[in-house]
Amino acid sequence: MKIAHTLAELRQHLSAFKHPVFIPTMGNLHEGHLALIHQGKPLGDVTVASIFVNRLQFLPHEDFDTYPRTWAADCEKLAAAGCDLLFAPHEHELYPEPQTFKVQAPAALADILEGHFRPGFFTGVSTVVLKLFNCVQPRVAVFGQKDYQQLMVIKGMVRQFALPIEIVGAATYRAEDGLALSSRNGYLSPLERIEAVQLARTLNNMADQIRAGETDLVEMERQAMQALTKRGWQPDYLTVRRQIDLQTPQIDQLLDQPLVVLGAAKLGNTRLIDNLEI
Ligand code: PAF
Repeated sequence: MKIAHTLAELRQHLSAFKHPVFIPTMGNLHEGHLALIHQGKPLGDVTVASIFVNRLQFLPHEDFDTYPRTWAADCEKLAAAGCDLLFAPHEHELYPEPQTFKVQAPAALADILEGHFRPGFFTGVSTVVLKLFNCVQPRVAVFGQKDYQQLMVIKGMVRQFALPIEIVGAATYRAEDGLALSSRNGYLSPLERIEAVQLARTLNNMADQIRAGETDLVEMERQAMQALTKRGWQPDYLTVRRQIDLQTPQIDQLLDQPLVVLGAAKLGNTRLIDNLEI
């Protein structure tokens, strides 16, 4: 696996290829990231991953400084998974001057759910992803569906800016007990790790209720929030939305529209998110 720290090195390595497939990451890689590499590999002639912990998408009180940087292990995992080229720019390479031009996703999509609890998050994500796209110039880019809203924001950006990139959403990779893999799972204590699967179980339970004909979404969401709170969680949201735009569904035709159940909750100091399409 080749490694490029600068844009010049990246462009030089890429010059021999026509169809780069791109998997952007913030490092601290787990099986879920490696599944994105495996899924992307057959879709182009060179598989490019990036590792860049993007300051722009962290709020001041969030974990930018402590976000795990696991460089040596990440390189080994990527090489073993068949990644051809790793772009790992230093901050001054990607942001040589303050990034004052930014990509702003529409409020209806970006200021709800994650964007409500993490204001500015999607501006930070969209801005860095656009910039990484301009660096790598991929034909295909693969993102995990665990970050459901992020995937929608990126698809919208690509569509509205007519970027010549196919965005592929990859199924969430889960541990045996059902917990969605996430770099932040590493923050969980052993006891919290056992409890963590309750987020996925709660979403499953909500999905089962909808399939069984429940239409009182407000009450169902309230009960789900209460159940997790009783177990010691601090839920931000547990909610049923339309897949098309993440807005609240119309109750009269609930099951006629593709739905998704989304949740975000803190367990101890660790904030976890997950979702489930119905
Ligand atoms: O999902 C992530 O890891 C990040 O949000 C991304 C897409 C790499 C942008 O920093």
